[in-house]
Amino acid sequence: PISDIAMIGLGVMGKNLALNIADHGYHVAVFDVDKLKVNAVINQEAEERATITGGDKTAARMTACDSLKMVLEKLAKPRALVLSVPAGAPVDGVCQSLIEAGIEADDIVIDTGNSLWTDTVAREAQYQGQFIFFSSAVSGGEVGARFGPSLMPSGDPAAWQHVAPIWEAIAAKVDANTGLPIERFEAGNPVLEGEPCTAYIGPAGAGHYVKMVHNGIEYADMQLICEAYQLLKDGLGFSALQISEVFSTWDKGSLNSYLMNISAKVLQQADPLSDKPLVEMILDKAGQKGTGLWTAVSSLQIGCPAPTIAEAVYARAVSTQKPLRQALSTKLAGPTLASNPDPSPQLSEQDRQAFIDALEDALYCAKVCCYAQGFQLMAMAGAEQHWQLNFAEIAKIWRAGCIIRATFLQSITQAYVENPELTHLLLADSFNQSLSARQMQWRRTVCAAVMQGTPAPCITSALAYYDSYRCETLPANLLQGQRDFFGAHTFERTDKPAGEKYHFNWSDKKPSLTKV
Ligand code: 6PG
Repeated sequence: PISDIAMIGLGVMGKNLALNIADHGYHVAVFDVDKLKVNAVINQEAEERATITGGDKTAARMTACDSLKMVLEKLAKPRALVLSVPAGAPVDGVCQSLIEAGIEADDIVIDTGNSLWTDTVAREAQYQGQFIFFSSAVSGGEVGARFGPSLMPSGDPAAWQHVAPIWEAIAAKVDANTGLPIERFEAGNPVLEGEPCTAYIGPAGAGHYVKMVHNGIEYADMQLICEAYQLLKDGLGFSALQISEVFSTWDKGSLNSYLMNISAKVLQQADPLSDKPLVEMILDKAGQKGTGLWTAVSSLQIGCPAPTIAEAVYARAVSTQKPLRQALSTKLAGPTLASNPDPSPQLSEQDRQAFIDALEDALYCAKVCCYAQGFQLMAMAGAEQHWQLNFAEIAKIWRAGCIIRATFLQSITQAYVENPELTHLLLADSFNQSLSARQMQWRRTVCAAVMQGTPAPCITSALAYYDSYRCETLPANLLQGQRDFFGAHTFERTDKPAGEKYHFNWSDKKPSLTKV
């Protein structure tokens, strides 16, 4: 049979996306340089389909291809080919091979990797005339890819029209009224109702930028939960199981999220090799593939404060410097070596609960700040690039399927639906009021962290971010004075029109003010 779409690259994501597409009635041509992977997905699909159809082997919806030429032969025109290969050089490698294999100008290549957005912009231009380079970032990990990811497509609008029915079919679905995900766990039983977690994001690069920011938020959200873990462990002396229970309780409230949910599960798991919790046997060195770093770099380049996201990237960097931490752990004094000899005095049940409640509020506030940073970053980048991003849509498609999915995204959706021109999330009353109500709890947590000597860079930096925006006046007046003093960099005055520049001659002999 003629295939509707092709999947090139059958790692976990590619394989599961292909199976998901087939579940929705589309025929998929599959290819990987590793033939074993091709056979594996063909067999899995055939088996799953046979189970659903009561043994009908002819119902299978995949075609194995042993070359890119064969992929092109098997596809209906204009062809749609999905790339699921590692970001970077492999994407261009496959594109070049597709050109050699005879791809045509109106065929569509959809890059689903975590590509750097500027590479995507360059590729769209580079391949113009040879094929349409389209992109669709995917979030949701392997389960998301299999049963409903969040998809962030961008590029040629006509290409999107072609791909949209398949994308809307395979994406995670959300109940339009509640904003809650419609869950589905078995194969071959596609969910068709609900709002799909995919929407056209904008011109080339926009989708990958939005996915990059999603990952920046993901880094911060994960680090916030890790800081809560350490505070409960070191501050209250809680075991992994006790912390898992706290997280499970939080997961039922305003902190409900996929990441909170899986963190509770990670903490619950026993190690098969020892009698300890598995988490305590996992080495405390965090990996990263770069998307969080790109978000932080972009925020610095654009001049959009995103300290909580940047701190999350630094936290991973500090974690990798284990030998240095080992050396310094015996040399740098903490509060236990100074005035307070007992870091965790026996707290009453009531005090423990107060600590947990304050931490829950602190986490919520810091989380709001990191989303505010991410959305402002997208707004500033979008304005710079003329992308016309729709933030209500972006919040909507993150409500399910993706790694940062959380009920909280429904509140963000509502804020942007009510005011599509919202320039900062904290200007939405629902958010500034909930932060104002919780901010003292946040301060209590930061004080406790500081006094017990437990690092909480994301919770703490988010509070500084909040306090910075609370200040109508910041000390940048002094900073401008310093700059003018040593470098004649000039300054504006509070009593003169904006843009009017002044320089003060700071010399003791002849102090004078000049309008520049
Ligand atoms: C997702 C994830 C996914 C992946 C990232 C994170 O949205 O499904 O973000 O893209 O897990 O690559 O990777 P690192 O933590 O390794 O940077």
